[in-house]
Parts: sequence; C-alpha cells; structure tokens
Amino acid sequence: SQYKVGYFVGSLSSTSINRLLAKALVGLAPESLELVEIPIRDLPLYSQDYDDDFPPVARAFKEAIAEVDAILFVTPEYNRSIPGGLKNAIDWATRPWGRNSFTRKPSAIIGTSPGAIGTALAQAQLRNVMCFCNSPLLNTVEAYIQFQPGLITETGEVTDEKTRQFLRNYMNEFHTFIVRVLTVLPREK
Ligand code: FNR
Repeated sequence: SQYKVGYFVGSLSSTSINRLLAKALVGLAPESLELVEIPIRDLPLYSQDYDDDFPPVARAFKEAIAEVDAILFVTPEYNRSIPGGLKNAIDWATRPWGRNSFTRKPSAIIGTSPGAIGTALAQAQLRNVMCFCNSPLLNTVEAYIQFQPGLITETGEVTDEKTRQFLRNYMNEFHTFIVRVLTVLPREK
C-alpha cells in the first residue's frame, strides 16, 4: 500500500546541504512511500496569542501534517541543537493545546553536516522533543551523515555507492516502521 510522508527541511539556506539530502531521499525512497515537503519558512514566530485564531499559514501547515501518515525531519545542527526555525515549526504544530498534530504520527530523524558527528547532538535533542510530542520515533537505523563536497549533486544524486545504499536502506527501514506503527495505531480520519 501507499503511504504519504511529509518532510521538514530544518535549514532555510539557499545552499542547504540538508535540502540536497532531502532531494536524495525522495529519489531513494521505496515506491510505497510518497514524499512531500511541508514548508516551515513562512511561519511567524509562535506565540500563545495566536491560539484563539491561527493565521492562514499556520492552519495550512497543520493541515499539511494532518494529511500525511508520517513525518521525516532532515535537519542541520546549529550550536549543538536544532535550528530555531525548526523548533518554531514544531511548536506551532503542537498548539493550540489539545490539538497536537504529531500525536501518534510516526517520525524519523536524519541530518547532515560537514562535521564528524554529522548532526548527532541535534538529532538527540530533536528525539527528546518528538518523544514529548507523542510521536512514535524510528530508533534504528540512525543516520548521521558527514557531508563531503560533491557527496550529493544539485539534482539529488548520491555520488558515493556506500552512502547511497545506506540511505536507501534507511528509507526502507522507515517504511517498515510506518507500516508497523499504523497497524497498531491506525490514523483517525
Ligand atoms: C553551524 N554548523 C554546525 N555544524 C555542526 O556540525 N554542529 C554545530 O553545532 C553547528 N553549529 C552551527 C551554527 C550555526 C548558526 C550555523 C550557521 C552553522 C555548520 C553547519 O553544519 C553547516 O553550516 C551546514 O551547511 C548547515 O546545514 P545546511 O543549512 O547547509 O543544510
């Protein structure tokens, strides 16, 4: 069967290596997963003042999450944590109180940086956050991708065979996980 995965790119950079990684994952995902981006760029900074009346951009954002079966985070590490823009988007998604868009929605986390730890600390922190948000998280395989110049081309081609296999396997594992979670916790439509 066919599952829809909404992906968040944690970077707003026009030259983002995480956007390249997301592009690559779209190409390497199994046929049974349809990947669509859920953009975070135009969300204002969240405040509880919005809770009575969310702006259209935030409503559209929450509707986009409601429409997918699972979430994939593709994020850089900023100062050993997740970028503020991504945290802002997550905060929007969990509000107003009692309307948490992530409840029971399976998710997975992946990221790349030029540094040797390949976003490991950001991913660990994002795990904490998504755990609190009641999202069943893919625990294995973990994917900390150290980016080398040319590893992924502008069109999302992974130039290294081992990395390509690793990422393909990652998406296959995510698919298996989604099937398992949704068998136990079917989506409320
Ligand atoms: C970074 N970078 C970085 N890298 C890392 O491995 N650990 C870190 O804690 C940080 N911290 C950090 C903070 C800020 C504010 C910036 C702008 C950058 C470097 C980062 O990995 C690099 O810029 C990547 O290219 C960011 O990913 P995108 O935006 O290209 O996807």
